[in-house]
Amino acid sequence: MINLENLAVYQQRINDYLKAQLANIEVNDQRLYDAMAYGLLIGGKRMRPYLAYATAEMLDLELDDIDPIAAAIECIHAYSLLHDDLPAMDDDDLRRGQLTCHKKFDEATAILAGDSLQTLAFEILSNHQFKSISAQSHIQLFKMLSNAAGYNGMCGGQAMDLAATDKHVALEQLQFIHKLKTGALLKASILMPALCREDLSTETFNNLKQFAEDIGLAYQVHDDIIDITSNEETLGKPAGSDLESNKSTYPALLGLEGAMEKEQQLFKQALSTLDTLPYNTRNLSNFSTFIIERAH
Ligand code: IPE
Ligand code: IPE
Ligand code: MG
Ligand code: MG
Ligand code: MG
Repeated sequence: MINLENLAVYQQRINDYLKAQLANIEVNDQRLYDAMAYGLLIGGKRMRPYLAYATAEMLDLELDDIDPIAAAIECIHAYSLLHDDLPAMDDDDLRRGQLTCHKKFDEATAILAGDSLQTLAFEILSNHQFKSISAQSHIQLFKMLSNAAGYNGMCGGQAMDLAATDKHVALEQLQFIHKLKTGALLKASILMPALCREDLSTETFNNLKQFAEDIGLAYQVHDDIIDITSNEETLGKPAGSDLESNKSTYPALLGLEGAMEKEQQLFKQALSTLDTLPYNTRNLSNFSTFIIERAH
């Protein structure tokens, strides 16, 4: 298993930052607050924050300005998981080795905790005094995050994922669903830091975008694979959940072998795009390996 350099450092960094953000909230409903903290702080690999910090490191950016970006993305991700696990969606009881939020609390609280984490993302992004970017770029960050999270990103992807359940969808449509529901937020994890490097060439930005799209897709393809090949203890969430719910996934469409070939192809494509970047891409390259090796 590949060792991601600085992973523990960045996990600690984002966890501390997220804890501080939650501590800043004036508590009214204690139960809702506890559910938000439960969904945000317990477990999680922090892959999106890691990607944001690794990209920022590569581009020699001020990490203090990356904290709110990484935190905002992680809040959206955490909210997406709270809602994804609800009975109306995937109906799962286990997440990150713990009861899902609606099982630990109740459905209404889990829905509201998700909603509150979503708005917290934008609060965090708006409260930060950026040291190194213009007001224009600050607005661009909001634009990118809302796009990645909303109808043309995660939410749209989730809706199409649900609509594709119990149905056979074409490979192209499945790729589109995966790109939106998981790829969009992972892409933002790379491109939001890239927006902070205001002198970045268009060519480099576009190559980073291509890389981000490929690994974003690979991330969900691998998620579909380990749903079959791993077990509940390792995953921290139910194994075989996709099969049981008759989800449209890469293994369902291409078979396990076919899905593995697809992720290899995306992996190779991602690495060759990285080669075109005039930076030290070691961390991003290791991240690409991590995606296709990860067991949970
Ligand atoms: C799980 O995401 C859901 C997908 C979008 C595939 P992660 O694998 O990043 O989950 P955590 O945050 O580490 O629990
Ligand atoms: C990712 O898809 C869902 C999002 C939260 C966007 P999955 O439904 O496959 O995620 P897991 O497997 O429950 O983590
Ligand atoms: Mg789902
Ligand atoms: Mg799910
Ligand atoms: Mg899954």
